[in-house]
Amino acid sequence: MSPPPEDLEPLLAAHRQRSRLRFIACGSVDDGKSTLIGRLLYESRAVHDDHLAALAVDSKRSGTRGGELDFALLVDGLTAEREQGITIDVAYRAFSTAKRHFIVADAPGHEQYTRNMVTGASTADLGVVLVDARKGVLTQTRRHTHILSLLGVRRVVLAVNKMDLMGWSEARFAEICNQYRELVSHIGRLDVTAIPLCAADGDNVVRRSPRTPWYSGPTLLEHLESVEPGEDLEGKPFRMPVQAVHRPSPEFRGFAGLIATGTVRPGDPVRVMPSGRESRVARIVTADGDLAVAIAGRSVTLTLDSEVDVSRGDVLVSGEPCPVADQIEATIIWLHAEPLLQGRSYDVKLGTRTVPATVMPIKYRFDVDTLGHLSAERLELNEIGVGELTFEAPVALEPYEVNRALGGFLLLDRRTHDTVGAGLCHFALRRSSNVRWQTLDVDKRARAAQKGQRPLVVWLTGLSGAGKSTIANIVEKKFLALGRHTYLLDGDNVRHGLNKGLGFTAQDRVENVRRLAEVARLMVDAGLIVLVSAISPFRSERAMARGLFEPGEFVEVFVDVPLAVAEQRDAKGLYAKARRGELKNFTGIDSPYEPPEAAELVLDAAKSSAEECADRILEALARPPTAG
Ligand code: ADX
Repeated sequence: MSPPPEDLEPLLAAHRQRSRLRFIACGSVDDGKSTLIGRLLYESRAVHDDHLAALAVDSKRSGTRGGELDFALLVDGLTAEREQGITIDVAYRAFSTAKRHFIVADAPGHEQYTRNMVTGASTADLGVVLVDARKGVLTQTRRHTHILSLLGVRRVVLAVNKMDLMGWSEARFAEICNQYRELVSHIGRLDVTAIPLCAADGDNVVRRSPRTPWYSGPTLLEHLESVEPGEDLEGKPFRMPVQAVHRPSPEFRGFAGLIATGTVRPGDPVRVMPSGRESRVARIVTADGDLAVAIAGRSVTLTLDSEVDVSRGDVLVSGEPCPVADQIEATIIWLHAEPLLQGRSYDVKLGTRTVPATVMPIKYRFDVDTLGHLSAERLELNEIGVGELTFEAPVALEPYEVNRALGGFLLLDRRTHDTVGAGLCHFALRRSSNVRWQTLDVDKRARAAQKGQRPLVVWLTGLSGAGKSTIANIVEKKFLALGRHTYLLDGDNVRHGLNKGLGFTAQDRVENVRRLAEVARLMVDAGLIVLVSAISPFRSERAMARGLFEPGEFVEVFVDVPLAVAEQRDAKGLYAKARRGELKNFTGIDSPYEPPEAAELVLDAAKSSAEECADRILEALARPPTAG
């Protein structure tokens, strides 16, 4: 049922008239960020009277402005309130003038600054970059500008604050503008407006300052009111990541989500991505009744006129279908103290979809000061790099430049679910669709049946010198005597061939374990009982290895000895070398070992002999497998 067109037009027109600008203020408290935001809110009367009364009292008591209104206190006071809410990192404040509505993202500073800035900038049309006139362009100014540009913010205001402290010097202002212009020439595609200010006194914030007769440009507010608003989200093709599938009754199946871009009406043809299946929109359901049209930014529930498979994480699209890829090139902004390691598996959250992915390779990272490319195998906290990502399954996405909602993603730690990075898709790499998994007629079951055994992998982890290889060796002999078909993948041995090029840095160990796991998987597929003996010090990679196998196929055995015992044994003399400083990154000495939290079997290898430990493994395997 299509509504008459005249009903639609006023609705759309009303939306278009409501001009709105989202911006982010970048800078630290010292630069006067809070004061600037506070002043904008105050002058536009966005502050409630009760807040103002409190501000007057606070300013007298603890302000830095000799009893006058201290706007920094205003914003900082709101910050304290906000922090009770814990989960919200970025505060969004709204204010309006006669001409426009504004939403300003205020990213609180300090350690988490980059993380908060990324969140705020990802929806901003414009960025205000504050610099202190005394300090000029700093490394943080470069970082902020680079992040704005990466996140698709094309309009920047260079707010040169505290000009009063530089005697309102035109020359100083010009010097800072030149420094900034030089920076932007490396970044490109940024439209910059520089404004000399004193946020504390209000010069050139809302009212033109008599102290800058040499400046003929707009005040900050004039500029914010007149700058072209951001992207035309509703003009883009329709995209809606499916947040939830609602099925309250057998007759009703609705797909709920936030419309990322475009417009949708009943009757519109849609495709479900990544499957590509086609259908038509039947109804647009909301709590306030059905709609005749819905546009970007609105949360709705759609019903379709045919029974197609749609799950959470799929994307409903119309018009040009969006790419589906399991490999992309992307920019990654690393937000965690533990570095991003090439080859480690992370969860990628893109739209409403979460899928495991690895970064391999990291192509380069940026030098924050020159924006030059540096080679990198890892990304440390706040570093920004470019790499290739491989998803475990195909994902519907778009380049970030085309669609922020379908091109921006988060990287999560798979164990703790912490957000550890943010990413921006450049483009899909087509390679994956050219290399297909061949379906073979003889499969794992057939191979296993021929050998009369249940294939599995017994993964022995523990410190060097714990006895992993000795125990694995005995287990293999016992299996052989039982007529089983086995293979022992020993870390030291595999490092002589397949893993010859790998050392003992964290990223090399990640790669070592990844390869061991992949080889073990092929061997399990061949129907073998595989024993892996490797330190495999990180939980994350052992979890990744486990994930390659079916439930019950992966048996993690922790060969547990105290470091002191392993060190005392020191059969290869390596602990002594490590203690003398002749061997770097030695596990237990200057490289970590993360003991398993839920191994299938823990062997106390300090108390029991290798023979006893081997028997315990065989006993454990003889028991029926427990789920998971
Ligand atoms: S892992 O950490 O990547 O899983 P792997 O088990 O393959 O290590 O190799 C460990 C073996 O390499 C040790 O048994 C030891 O003989 C040798 N080795 C040499 N250097 C180191 C080192 N820095 N740390 C740990 N083991 C080392």
